[in-house]
Amino acid sequence: MQASTEPATHAQRVNIELGERSYPIAIGAALLDDAATWVDLPRTASALIVTNTTVGPLYLQRLQAALQPRHKAVFTVVLPDGEAHKNWQTLNLIFDALLENECDRKTILYALGGGVVGDMTGFAAASYMRGVPFVQVATTLLAQVDSSVGGKTAINHPLGKNMIGAFYQPLLVVCDLDTLKTLPARELSAGLAEIIKYGPIADMAFLDWIENNLGALLAREPAALAHAVKRSCEIKAWVVGQDERESGIRAILNFGHTFGHAIESGLGYGEWLHGEAVGCGMVMAAHLSQRLGLIDMTLVERLTKVIHKAGLPVKGPRLGADRYLELMRVDKKTDAGELRFVLIDKPGSAVMRGAPQALVREVIEQCCAA
Ligand code: NAD
Ligand code: GLY
Repeated sequence: MQASTEPATHAQRVNIELGERSYPIAIGAALLDDAATWVDLPRTASALIVTNTTVGPLYLQRLQAALQPRHKAVFTVVLPDGEAHKNWQTLNLIFDALLENECDRKTILYALGGGVVGDMTGFAAASYMRGVPFVQVATTLLAQVDSSVGGKTAINHPLGKNMIGAFYQPLLVVCDLDTLKTLPARELSAGLAEIIKYGPIADMAFLDWIENNLGALLAREPAALAHAVKRSCEIKAWVVGQDERESGIRAILNFGHTFGHAIESGLGYGEWLHGEAVGCGMVMAAHLSQRLGLIDMTLVERLTKVIHKAGLPVKGPRLGADRYLELMRVDKKTDAGELRFVLIDKPGSAVMRGAPQALVREVIEQCCAA
């Protein structure tokens, strides 16, 4: 039909500039069914859409119909849903589908879902036949503002979060804001955690904006969501463009993640959502920054308040300081056994550095629920 082939004029674009691995992020409403969304992708014989048992019934048919004109065959694989399934066994289901359908090196993988589907599909794309193209079709707020962008792909190991993976960039990221209408409220809040993160590490004016527009974001007002997704992607693009493989500045995107990953793996994957653990982890990292004399209590209190108002926990689970420390040692930032944290060194700026263990213990005791 004529309307569906017209350019998606309502889509905004943010570009990730990585030389030959550069790609656009398309942000807007009704992008899924719009032929213009997909028009720049190669027309290959086959494609495989990877989704899960929750997202599949909502959006798989629509995506398949949109892609059908571009590929002779559009295969699908539906994974079990949840962080607890982000592992080798589930990853293998993607390889099974690729091999059973005789997919070749030109087959495009489409990740339709949140960060779990995106991270696993990306890792499958990085390793199938030593690398096939893939596209991120992000359907959670968290995936639209963070996980689909920047090419980190991974699965979890029982001993550590996202420990097995690869840097592998997609051809395109699609953020159809309409898909957020079906997102459970708890998942929306989880996405807000990663949006809030960009304020203290890079852009205090964005933190002001988030504080002033939190009600609109929680009410899913389209203009507010569009701005939050776009500004988050711009900041992430700015960081990733300087340091694709995290040898320096990219680490600031892990603000709150050292504590957060310990919470996720300590409680068992899926017990707390990733965004919830990051939200609480940011409160803990802010306290550590304050204890080290880098920032004053005003910013710690301000961050705690906005995280709480976003519907996220601000007190950590009581795992015990020893257990936290043990879990935090399995962190990609650990250097020769020394824990390192992303800390706020001044409002709108972050650094990575070590901290005395006694101080970290005190922060854990202070920030965990009684
Ligand atoms: P998720 O992928 O588990 O999605 C959350 C839940 O929402 C799931 O139950 C999912 O099925 C459901 N869902 C997805 N889209 C929906 C929709 N439109 N309507 C209704 N339900 C929907 O979780 P997430 O929060 O998107 O992602 C978290 C994962 O992302 C973690 O594994 C984390 O490690 C990873 N992550 C990766 C990066 C990265 O840079 N690669 C960054 C941040 C987080
Ligand atoms: N979410 C952290 C990163 O992409 O580096």
